[in-house]
Amino acid sequence: MEDVGAVDPVPGREPNVVLKSVVKRFGDLVAVDHVDLAVYPGEFFGLLGPNGAGKSTIIKIATGLWRPTSGEVKVLGVDLEQDSLAVKARVGLLPEDLNLYERLTGEEYLQFAGRMYRLPENDVISRSRQLLEVLELANKANQLIIDYSQGMKKKIGLAAALIHNPTVLFLDEPFNGVDVVSSRTVRQILQRLVERGVTVFFSSHVMEMVEKLCNRVAILKKGRIVAMGTVEELKRSAGAAPETSLEDIFLAHIGETEESQPLPWIG
Ligand SMILES: Nc1ncnc2c1ncn2[C@@H]1O[C@H](COP(=O)(O)OP(=O)(O)O)[C@@H](O)[C@H]1O
Ligand SMILES: [Mg+2]
Repeated sequence: MEDVGAVDPVPGREPNVVLKSVVKRFGDLVAVDHVDLAVYPGEFFGLLGPNGAGKSTIIKIATGLWRPTSGEVKVLGVDLEQDSLAVKARVGLLPEDLNLYERLTGEEYLQFAGRMYRLPENDVISRSRQLLEVLELANKANQLIIDYSQGMKKKIGLAAALIHNPTVLFLDEPFNGVDVVSSRTVRQILQRLVERGVTVFFSSHVMEMVEKLCNRVAILKKGRIVAMGTVEELKRSAGAAPETSLEDIFLAHIGETEESQPLPWIG
């Protein structure tokens, strides 16, 4: 693994998310293979990798949904093996498979999420409204989620992940199915959170988004981190010209080239 960007640019801070030698096996398959990560307050961290690389598995482990086969996970200084509930109260998660209660309206769902986090009732009401407003869902507030588009479902999921004002936000493929206008709003919200010191940890294969947003990225291949650093550091370490896109760097690390011919019979 290239050791770029592994050192916090602001020394002395405690990382918000730490994974030490994390392994996750499913039978013979090693989905996550000795992953080491430290993500700091105010970092916009991007986990990149092709399908099946282990991104969602890492997010499930870091949010305490799954236990690693071996290794250590600390979030906000707390070992998830010791007290994962204390951590969950301060963490937001937008899972890849949203699992929303689709028989609720958008507003009911947000209120449900707020109550689950035990917010005072007036905050539950006012924050739900504000989130619906900001995410341009106010006119759909009383519509059942089952009738929402994929992008609208993502936004409701994001709103539910934000309602308790988390210190660390995990987003698994947040921009899938979200239209350009909405993704701009979402980007602005996320950037504001990062400026306030929140850690945003997200997985994506939308390279331009990652390039635009992330302070630091890790490239994951078959469960292993093959490169980590700022986009500039990755370009420099790959000996690439500054105008090289993150996508080219990504493909170089993953071992794919533009010349590869997946369907030779197409000609
Ligand atoms: N519950 C599971 N049981 C067995 N294999 C799984 C399970 N979840 C994920 N995997 C496997 O682990 C690997 C990593 O999956 P995942 O973390 O979902 O990748 P990504 O999110 O990067 O697409 C894949 O090979 C996937 O098939
Ligand atoms: Mg995934």
